[in-house]
Amino acid sequence: MSNDGSPQGSSQAFGWRPDLMLGIAPMDYQHRQLVASAAELHFVVTTKASQHDVVKATRDLIEITRQHFDWEEQLMLNERYDGYAAHKEHHDRLLKQLVEVESELEAGSIGSCQTLALFIETWTLQHLLIVDKALALFLEKSRMKV
Ligand SMILES: [Fe+2]
Ligand SMILES: [Fe+2]
Repeated sequence: MSNDGSPQGSSQAFGWRPDLMLGIAPMDYQHRQLVASAAELHFVVTTKASQHDVVKATRDLIEITRQHFDWEEQLMLNERYDGYAAHKEHHDRLLKQLVEVESELEAGSIGSCQTLALFIETWTLQHLLIVDKALALFLEKSRMKV
């Protein structure tokens, strides 16, 4: 139990970290924007902002995520990435979950803000550090062959 009265784990800020840089410039640029948007949602959720602010931050994150996923999927197709299907499935699942969160927030039926904050942080980090990292390694290798 922390002595500043905050619930366990919630005092740690979520945001951009150097290990999220994958070495592909346009991808890193978009990931920074995506993480900033996810961090904004994480912030409004953990500071118990108004429902209006939480819904707005969720919509912003959905928009930026959709744009980034579209771009990345086109890149994978252009580069004939063999992990395309699994990666796209991951994107689709994440977006579907985010849209569900938005619906639940609008209906005022979201269970726990702490759970939502953890979900945002986990999916962002897992996707970048595992799924996108594999794509970045593939791109790096295929560029070295050219
Ligand atoms: Fe991705
Ligand atoms: Fe990505």
